[in-house]
Amino acid sequence: MFGRHFITLADFNAKQILCILETAKKLKALQQSGKAHRLLDGKSLAMFFQKPSMRTRVSFEVGITQLGGSALNIRPEEIQMGKRESIADIARVISRYVDAVMMRVLRHSDIVEFAKYSNAPVINGLSDLYHPCQAVSDMLTIEEHKGKLRGLTLCYVGDGNNVCNSLIEMAHLTGMKMIVSCPEGYEPYINSKKIPHKIVRDPNSAVSGADVIYTDVWTSMGQEKESLIRLRAFRDYTISEAMMAQAAPGAIFMHCLPAHRGEEVDKAVVDGPQSVIFDQAENRLHAQKAVLALLLSKELQLENLS
Ligand code: CP
Ligand code: NVA
Repeated sequence: MFGRHFITLADFNAKQILCILETAKKLKALQQSGKAHRLLDGKSLAMFFQKPSMRTRVSFEVGITQLGGSALNIRPEEIQMGKRESIADIARVISRYVDAVMMRVLRHSDIVEFAKYSNAPVINGLSDLYHPCQAVSDMLTIEEHKGKLRGLTLCYVGDGNNVCNSLIEMAHLTGMKMIVSCPEGYEPYINSKKIPHKIVRDPNSAVSGADVIYTDVWTSMGQEKESLIRLRAFRDYTISEAMMAQAAPGAIFMHCLPAHRGEEVDKAVVDGPQSVIFDQAENRLHAQKAVLALLLSKELQLENLS
């Protein structure tokens, strides 16, 4: 049984997460071989963004279309969530029109509130705390490049933000060791007693022997006022070629994008031979199609997807 909503990976068990991975691989193969896979014929997805987006917006719209459904974009100023109308009433009404809702919200509590009143599955397209769609796409990319997940070490260098929190959950569910290297005061929201991960302050030691080196922007959307303070706080946390040389042989470099060359990562690394950033971006499409299909298709049987 798959979950009712897709809000944070902590709501899922290892078996369900691996089911997303297997479904994504099959859907990717079907799409690449040009075979129709209209598992969600006639279904509709409402998309709601309180923050900018390129990858999430385009990959969800194309993804639901490839599955036989359609997407509609709702602008925040149209519905004015919590201002013109309560979150509860919007959720009750929209979920009578559409089959699923994907939301990018400023406050995680808003998506939790929406899901409480929505009869349709709700997907988190990024909140201040989590980015689960990114993490499941990254899981697919890591497996494609490393041939496995269990036993690998993922080292995240930078801000303990939404992307980092979802990677901690993903690593835990897939048997990867997770190391986070961040300055004091920028630790992940997830406590290491709740979901194990190691904090290593020195980024050069943290990356030593890691199979996957991951970073994200130092200033996330909504934190723009703190950008100068953050530039100073993170100045020793730029991923350089020297740091990549400390990682395990064959290590890959990952970034959810958009990237700031010269800040969290040097150009030589992000555009270099170890970088898999565009595979990550592509896999948003395949992994999110798997999430949509698993949430919405009652008949989905993995063995029939070939
Ligand atoms: N990585 C990611 O979520 O990209 P967008 O902000 O462009 O959707
Ligand atoms: N941490 C970034 C991720 C963007 C995809 C942000 O929240 O802005």
